[in-house]
Amino acid sequence: MAEQVRLQKFMADCGVGSRRKCEEWIVQGQVSVNGGVVAELGTKIDPDRDEVRFRGKVLRPAAGKITVMLHKPAGYVTTVRDQFNRPNVCELVRIPGVRLYPVGRLDYQTTGLLLLTNDGDLDYLLTHPKNHIPRVYEAVLRGHPTADALQELESGVKLAKGKKSAPAVVRILKSGTNATHVEFTLYEGRNHEVRQMAQAVGYPVLRLKRTGFAGLSLGNLQEGHYAVLKQEQVEDIKNRYQP
Ligand code: URA
Repeated sequence: MAEQVRLQKFMADCGVGSRRKCEEWIVQGQVSVNGGVVAELGTKIDPDRDEVRFRGKVLRPAAGKITVMLHKPAGYVTTVRDQFNRPNVCELVRIPGVRLYPVGRLDYQTTGLLLLTNDGDLDYLLTHPKNHIPRVYEAVLRGHPTADALQELESGVKLAKGKKSAPAVVRILKSGTNATHVEFTLYEGRNHEVRQMAQAVGYPVLRLKRTGFAGLSLGNLQEGHYAVLKQEQVEDIKNRYQP
């Protein structure tokens, strides 16, 4: 008998979405196994025997695992569904027969390094907060942050909903007439985190670009272009960050 796997892992391996997103869909009753809706987490299935349907469509595991690094342009959303129907990053990566989804999020106006994958294990590893995956951002801030403000950004500032940002590394790259280029290295992935942090100390973000993620660098990849990661690169990430 084939190995049983958790339903959400099987779904992620089919390239439907991240494991956590799949859990939400399960709880919402959008998934059936052998004709019956399964709305409970923890269900295991046999990929060789059980028929899993998502929104009525039979799921089959992706033929091969693919991960790409995209240089996201501004003006694209990274969420699967957008209420305003704005362009989606997935439209920029067209590989026949392969459905990829973004690893984490970047804001609509943020540019830079975004991974897209159908590798559920990799997605899980890179998005789980316990793994402290490094994310490097280049932010253009309005004004000239003081030494105290930089210190505050590094040690943690108050964010929305009473949360505090985790310790970060912050350094000035370039100082202009009215703005400052600042590099942030964060080890967690909260929504709008850099924008919130900078706003909290009084120097709002004018432009934001992610230049590094999980040890990968954007290099000279052009905006709107993508590169398929080599097997060794994916393995290297898994070896480095696997707990
Ligand atoms: N922090 C932000 O504020 N926005 C992003 O897109 C990513 C990190």
